[in-house]
Amino acid sequence: MHQRRSDLPVSPTVLKRWSTRAFDGREMPHEDLLTMLEAGRWAPSAFNAQPWTFLYAMRDDDHWADFLSLLIPFNAMWASTASALVFVVSDTMPDVGKGPAPSHSHSFDSGAAWAMVAWQAAEMGYMTHAMTGLDFERASVQLGLSPTVRLEAAFVVGRQGDGAQLPDYLLAREEPSDRKPLVEIALRGPFPNGI
Ligand SMILES: Cc1cc2nc3c(=O)[nH]c(=O)nc-3n(C[C@H](O)[C@H](O)[C@H](O)COP(=O)(O)O)c2cc1C
Repeated sequence: MHQRRSDLPVSPTVLKRWSTRAFDGREMPHEDLLTMLEAGRWAPSAFNAQPWTFLYAMRDDDHWADFLSLLIPFNAMWASTASALVFVVSDTMPDVGKGPAPSHSHSFDSGAAWAMVAWQAAEMGYMTHAMTGLDFERASVQLGLSPTVRLEAAFVVGRQGDGAQLPDYLLAREEPSDRKPLVEIALRGPFPNGI
């Protein structure tokens, strides 16, 4: 497995995080997951609205199988070996002091929270993998979401396994991916000719 290499010297934790599908199928301490979610709690958000909520199942919870069934079958297949499954939902109408009002950035804010969870997990030697391959309709009912709450994504957490349970085509994809060059995504000024 190759190591990720950045062009500039970023924190090693940034490069350590990648989305495996090979988890070890074991339980993890509840406290460890809570520590990761605590990191998400400290994410920045517009007006400090903190529009995110994490709805989670540990693999020994009674609702683990129910939660897992909300993933599309492809995702459920490999995610079933993770230790925790978390749905990230955001409040589209947070109340930041003047009553509930539409938020421009609830998804952006919740994405920031997920990123901090993933960062903390990587720091602690855990792997995470986000998913939007979900049965959104059924999840919305089963998770008890009100119409103003948006299901953003789910992610799993666990320890790296050997992937023995994965089909060959997925085992072959157990490699950290690369990225677009920095010059393509960071422009000093506006787009030169429109998009
Ligand atoms: C919002 C989001 C949704 C994703 N959905 C899925 C998914 O449904 N199934 C899957 O196998 N991977 C999914 N991924 C993982 C991405 O494919 C992966 O993050 C991307 O290829 C970059 O690789 P890396 O995370 O290993 O750096 C998702 C990632 C994000 C952030």
